[in-house]
Amino acid sequence: MHLLRVQVPDFRVLKEVDITFEQAFNPNVFPLGSLNGGGKSTFLQLIFILLHCSAYRERHQFIANMLERVTIPEGQNSKLLARFELIDENDEKIELEFTLCNDDYLRQLDINPIFNKESVSFDAFLKEKKLLSEIASIEEEITQRTFSDYMIDEEVEVTAEKQYELAKIDKENKKNVLNTIQPLLNSLSENLTLKNQYYITSYSCNGNATGLLCQSSNVNKSTKDIKAILTILSKQVFLNAPSTQIYLFLNNEDKKLLFKKIDAKRGSWRGNYESKLDKAKNKLPNFLTFDILAIDAVISSIEKARNQDFKTQVDTGTIGVNYPKIMAELNTLTQGKKVLPQLDDNAVITGVTFKTNDGMDIYPEDLSHGELKRLSIYVWLKSLPKGENIVLMDEIENALHPDWQYQIVRDLVEWGKDNQYILATHSYGLCEALTPAHVKELEPKLIVN
Ligand SMILES: Nc1ncnc2c1ncn2[C@@H]1O[C@H](COP(=O)(O)OP(=O)(O)OP(=O)(O)O)[C@@H](O)[C@H]1O
Ligand SMILES: [Mg+2]
Repeated sequence: MHLLRVQVPDFRVLKEVDITFEQAFNPNVFPLGSLNGGGKSTFLQLIFILLHCSAYRERHQFIANMLERVTIPEGQNSKLLARFELIDENDEKIELEFTLCNDDYLRQLDINPIFNKESVSFDAFLKEKKLLSEIASIEEEITQRTFSDYMIDEEVEVTAEKQYELAKIDKENKKNVLNTIQPLLNSLSENLTLKNQYYITSYSCNGNATGLLCQSSNVNKSTKDIKAILTILSKQVFLNAPSTQIYLFLNNEDKKLLFKKIDAKRGSWRGNYESKLDKAKNKLPNFLTFDILAIDAVISSIEKARNQDFKTQVDTGTIGVNYPKIMAELNTLTQGKKVLPQLDDNAVITGVTFKTNDGMDIYPEDLSHGELKRLSIYVWLKSLPKGENIVLMDEIENALHPDWQYQIVRDLVEWGKDNQYILATHSYGLCEALTPAHVKELEPKLIVN
């Protein structure tokens, strides 16, 4: 997919944003500039979360977190959140509109009058979400208890067995409540489907239930088509950003942890921002922070290349070319240092060292911040699926020398030539590697008041 245009009328600091990313531009790399606080990170995160999370229920919480304080203006029943124009692999243009709607919107649909007007609300979806998650945690609790838990001694046996019975009753009660709201949910979904509105999720803002819907505005796409497009998009959009910044898609408590000191006495890492970010990363496969262990990634990419070559040899009788290729690429990356895999007696790669031109051994921990960053971007891009990905990168120039900031544009194209890159940046050097038309800017522009 190629992102052609993104419009955001009003989301946090973003007002009347309308940016085009021309498909014909070569290379497909678009720096995105603004003052500090101009909305670059907000913009990239909004694109990523909407496109990566919409098709999957288990990722909807990130959308709800992001929208937490977004309201619909008084007297209106909906508000356009974002509009995307994309070009798919078959060169078909797709327009997607993500709209926030309130209960007034639902009540003007043709809902069966057996449901009283008050109950026609996005609140029903919120109740469903809550009940489903409660049922899932009861089920988890029940299955995690082993038979031996009930056999330890007579007293425990009775209590545990009773708890087990109570949990089962609780689960049945919740299922019954769910069944009572199911007909309304079905009717709401059917009506939205008739309007080609794909329901994504709901959230609560100041006590008002609000729903997020998606429709395709150019051709009459059904909700099934929209779901299929969103599923493809979820696999093709990527976000790479520094770990020490606020991620709007974390929940409020987790966001606040960025400003809290780690409790040294308890030595706990569990409660800190990084651990919450790690947890989020597990659920967002296409999200990566720059602080990753580049060397682990280098080792696994060398191993992968070696295994592919071995497979080629088994299949065809001739050894493949992946290993020499990746070694040659890695050697150009570290400039003047040759990468040497370290093997144990069973030829397992246990690490890498770097040999300088004058024969000195350099260890990964001796590499500079910028060298490690360049390596990690390289291995990350190499690990992406083949094809046209939309790669969003925030503050890509951090830690890179101006020469490398200039060079990174060429690097990105070389390391993933079919991808489209949108790079939030303050780097003049990086922009100089492209034409002025490539460089996009978020208001407010540099205007002297
Ligand atoms: N609800 C809100 N409404 C309007 N503006 C907001 C809201 N919440 C945060 N902001 C503002 O949005 C800005 C954050 O924008 P963002 O982090 O996207 O900027 P940025 O261009 O990435 O900046 P930098 O270059 O410093 O990283 C802050 O200035 C903040 O005050
Ligand atoms: Mg930023």
